[in-house]
Amino acid sequence: MKKAVCFFYAMYLASFCFAQETIQNLLCENLSNPIGLDEQHPRFSWQLISDARNIMQAAYEIRVSNNASSLEKDKDIIWSTGKISSDSSVYITYRGAQLESGKKYYWQVRVWDNAGKASSWSEPASWQMGLLNANDWKAKWIEQGFPEDTINRSSPLFRKEFKASKKIQSATAYITAHGLYEACINGKRVGDHYLTPGWTSYNKRLQYQTYDVTDLLTQGNNAVGVTLGNGWYRGYLAWGGNKNTYGKDVALLFQLEITYTDGTKETVISDESWKSSTGSIISAEIYNGETIDAGKEKTGWCNAGYNDADWSGIAVKDYDKSKLIATQNEPIKKHETFQPVKIITTPKGEKVIDFGQNLVGWEIVKVKGNAGDKITISHAEVLDKEGNFYTENLRAAKAQSTYILKGNDEETFAPHFTFYGFRYIKIEGYPGEIKPENFSAVALYSDMQPTGTFSCSNPLINQLQHNIQWGQRGNFLDVPTDCPQRDERLGWTGDAQVFSRTAAFNMNVNNFFAKWLKDVAADQEENGSIPFVIPNLLGPGAGGSAGWADVCTIIPWNIYLAYGDKKVLEQQYSSMKAWVEYMNKKSKNYLWNTGFHFGDWLFYRPFDDNDGRSAVTDKYLMLLQNIKDAFLKEYMTPNGRLVSNTQTAYVLALNFDMLPESQRAEAAQRLADNVKSYDNHLTTGFLGTPYLCHVLTRFGYDSVAYKLLLQGTYPSWLYPVKMGATTIWERWDGIKPDSTFETPSMNSFNHYSYGAIGDWMYRTVAGIDTYADEPGYKHIKIMPHIGGNLTYANADLKTYYGTVSAHWKLDNGKLQLDVEIPANTKATVYIPAKNADEITEGGNALSLSKDIKVEGTENGYVVLNVGSGKYHFAVK
Ligand code: BGC
Repeated sequence: MKKAVCFFYAMYLASFCFAQETIQNLLCENLSNPIGLDEQHPRFSWQLISDARNIMQAAYEIRVSNNASSLEKDKDIIWSTGKISSDSSVYITYRGAQLESGKKYYWQVRVWDNAGKASSWSEPASWQMGLLNANDWKAKWIEQGFPEDTINRSSPLFRKEFKASKKIQSATAYITAHGLYEACINGKRVGDHYLTPGWTSYNKRLQYQTYDVTDLLTQGNNAVGVTLGNGWYRGYLAWGGNKNTYGKDVALLFQLEITYTDGTKETVISDESWKSSTGSIISAEIYNGETIDAGKEKTGWCNAGYNDADWSGIAVKDYDKSKLIATQNEPIKKHETFQPVKIITTPKGEKVIDFGQNLVGWEIVKVKGNAGDKITISHAEVLDKEGNFYTENLRAAKAQSTYILKGNDEETFAPHFTFYGFRYIKIEGYPGEIKPENFSAVALYSDMQPTGTFSCSNPLINQLQHNIQWGQRGNFLDVPTDCPQRDERLGWTGDAQVFSRTAAFNMNVNNFFAKWLKDVAADQEENGSIPFVIPNLLGPGAGGSAGWADVCTIIPWNIYLAYGDKKVLEQQYSSMKAWVEYMNKKSKNYLWNTGFHFGDWLFYRPFDDNDGRSAVTDKYLMLLQNIKDAFLKEYMTPNGRLVSNTQTAYVLALNFDMLPESQRAEAAQRLADNVKSYDNHLTTGFLGTPYLCHVLTRFGYDSVAYKLLLQGTYPSWLYPVKMGATTIWERWDGIKPDSTFETPSMNSFNHYSYGAIGDWMYRTVAGIDTYADEPGYKHIKIMPHIGGNLTYANADLKTYYGTVSAHWKLDNGKLQLDVEIPANTKATVYIPAKNADEITEGGNALSLSKDIKVEGTENGYVVLNVGSGKYHFAVK
């Protein structure tokens, strides 16, 4: 026994003395080796990885070169920080010489830890600049040179052949479009990005993408081909047949820069030398789907030597290039692939495949048949009560793929310029038997790094977490959309705002939101009003709703908390201020009671609610200190009752500290009573839901919050789970207990807003949070709230510093808590116990640990301060 103890002690010492410290995960502007940045002062971040405890960075040194091998030799260094005493390892700003268009730069970093130990230099990382000035664009905007079929608006093809006369060292393509584009070089697809150039407020900001295409080119003859789709630019969008939002013609801008091994350069651009025609994509619309006639394919059109004699020329257009910007966020990529879980013949006789998951993307169909055979694939999220295919909730969106076969050989079909929100497909016209191996579905979404996982002992909560994550995957498609299936799919600001904090747990949404927030600011009206949807296509005046427009302040703050990103705050500051000024101007005596407001959208309203408990909340604004008095005067009775005696009214008033200290406890009691009066059901809509459980927890009503979380009947989070949901629904009762549907005019089964409870699951159930004064998990708070009959809960979060973990379990009613704190951070850990003597760490009394500082006790917790490392706590 003694021997074993000695052995482990020796191992422990050894691990301390010889613990390897490495520098990993180098990021530039939050991306790994990005290509095509237009940021003159990019920011660097890295992770110090170490198993040892209490490791902090004491100093760092960064060096930058434009040549990888000279970087290693410490030659041709264009910027070096020298040794800087600092524990900052996130967002260190490049302050070297002016960065040049199209140039690739290499950087590496080394650090010294708090024991003075120096790491070795990290592996080099790189970034490549995009085209920084409008006049770096030599390419010309081109449009098809033939009259368009104005009904279908078939996707035009553009092609050009060129000779690369010498040995190629590198080649970079810069591409964008009015509409969507897919490019290929020598028959191979350029990049793995989809629905490019993504969606921005095109009139002000149009992103281009940068691709390393070195491997696609050959010395000698080459061909480039590009197909365009209508997309958001001119396709059907919003309602009433609205189309051509940004213009009526699709157009291409393409520039290829080749560097030969002898150092000389050549540029291939879109210009009058290109040719245009149509191909197999007969029509493609985001809402309505895509029709592909394989018989019309121009075989080999993207290879050199193709005969394009009968192709048309093109028209050169002089569109403004000053709006062109590099891509800031992660591109849309293909992710999970699903196989059929069931092939169904419905009571109506429809042939339907169930993929088992409500997802966003498209189907891939393999087929062998005759030329002209026509397959139609329809998409649905749910089957109806009878088990038939249900598409009424898609409203006017046709959401159909039509494939016309070339014939003979096996053919594979998938769309290009649309996306569907679906779990089921209905297949019509398929030649032969419908076999599962011929059908699959692929999920498309912005390629954000997955960062958070949450699980616990209750499988229904785990399914809820799954649904929240799939709600995010389905709706983070370059912009945060409200829903992915019906004729809407717009960047609704309120939805994004309420879900943003949860989103930042599940995935790294730093750049995703930073890019979209720039569109929020770009589309903000002159009077400071923020449109309902961003990019705004509902026109001027469609904006300024409380809770929705607050997106411009809430998301930047949430991004700051989750990632410590100050630049987002700086960039959005004038937009926030303009919005606050707008509200000020609209207010009278510090109350804003005018204008249109969505209010607590989709709150619970029972039909027989006549007893005054109605959940309708007055639409109000809570902001400045001196508004509070006006608020109290208007909305609170002298006895401390809010005029709207609803959950949302109490939640918002308490969450935003609108009530005087002395009245908060009583108000919280009223909130808890209100929940009880609904038999432990929530009644909140979009605005109250994100804060409901947080407020209950803050005022000591964990058990009420847990009752809400675990509630299985409508309205509740678990009701849809029990009804078989695989995503978050738009309405608490999208499918009613009798299996009939809510009104089809607004009944999305993939609407993330109510998934905002995810934030409470991470921050309260598992207990991982960050302090606002050292945001981005530089100072971590671990404070699990044990309850809800859970016997364990685990959360892991990948932060810019490394992984933060909090795993708790009850073993025979006794708590064990495993915590992981990354190097270069610190944590305050709250352990539910009466006093420090009840707690052990690694089997030892806390008093024996030199790594743990006991701060005291607070509300039933023992408070400890720890440095980085792994800790195993147990409460006796
Ligand atoms: C959307 C929402 C949005 C709402 C605003 C709906 O059509 O789907 O989620 O916030 O309109 O009222």
